[in-house]
Amino acid sequence: MADIGTDLQRAITVLTQGDLVAIPTETVYGLAANAYDEKAVVKIFEAKNRPAFDPLIVHTHSVSEVSNIAREVPDVAYTLAERFWPGPLTLILPKAKHIPLLVTSGHDSVGVRIPNHPLTLDLLRQLPFPVAAPSANPFGYVSPTTAQHVQDQLGDRIPYILDGGACDVGIESTIIRLNGNEVEVLRLGGLAVEELEEVVHVSKAKIKTSSSNPAAPGMLSSHYSPRKKVLLGDISENLLKTDPARVGVISLQEIFPEVPREQQIQLSASGDLSEAARSLFSALRTLDAQPIDLILAEPMPEHGLGLAINDRLQRASYQGK
Ligand code: TXA
Ligand code: MG
Repeated sequence: MADIGTDLQRAITVLTQGDLVAIPTETVYGLAANAYDEKAVVKIFEAKNRPAFDPLIVHTHSVSEVSNIAREVPDVAYTLAERFWPGPLTLILPKAKHIPLLVTSGHDSVGVRIPNHPLTLDLLRQLPFPVAAPSANPFGYVSPTTAQHVQDQLGDRIPYILDGGACDVGIESTIIRLNGNEVEVLRLGGLAVEELEEVVHVSKAKIKTSSSNPAAPGMLSSHYSPRKKVLLGDISENLLKTDPARVGVISLQEIFPEVPREQQIQLSASGDLSEAARSLFSALRTLDAQPIDLILAEPMPEHGLGLAINDRLQRASYQGK
């Protein structure tokens, strides 16, 4: 099993030696390696069983460092960075030449983000290199939002987990690509589209929510999936077709009397979609461990983080896998 703790010095030593450390961010836990060290980055793909076509996001601590990661940073990227970093936004930019192609899966572009977590920002400030970090879960499974989630699944493959508590946002970053002053959303995430729209024009036609998304490889239809089957739709209706004793329920607020209480999770009693996002991945993991056959989930309201939650639930429920 991995050691879990808050020892920054230990994390620095392990990363500097070319090994992996799981790090907390405000979105989900990441599995970090020195982004300049190909041998270290290979270990990420191995530990996660991640296909080589799925590129990694590079994390740094300040906007001035971005020019070491990306060779061109348009003005609109600086505007977005000033407004939303540190925070749950990843920008796709033309990659700098010393970022290995392994990190970007052969693409000429790189994903960059400054995560908003005090411990990880401290770590990044003390490292002489940025870190490449995908979510710290086996490929295709639900992302981890606590150190224990990482331990449960990758603990025997990595030496150290930096424990920064439960993630505040709870859902992965919003990934965008810039086309002049227009923004394309490659992955809905922890930064609401409405907030982006306060700063830039977001192309509605280009919000990617389906599998046909070559622009963000790795965004497969079946992703973020628990082992149990997930059925997304009206829960009351779906309960009529199932044995309520054998199902789990993920709703925003509603409680269903026919289902055992411990098999139900309300994501936010007050209907707050940020709170719901924070609870979502833990809820999927908790129900995945229950003696049930099926998880019934309902779509969230289509605004704010509800859009990103629905995207994850759709992928979790995808049956073409
Ligand atoms: O919140 C997050 O983004 C978390 C934390 C750890 O920062 N990271 C994360 O990484 O979710 P990951 O590897 O699970 O998802 C990264 C996704 C890839 O699957 C791909 O869709 C997109 O980012 N991506 C990365 N680099 C890209 C590039 N050069 N072009 C297009 N998409 C890219
Ligand atoms: Mg991931």
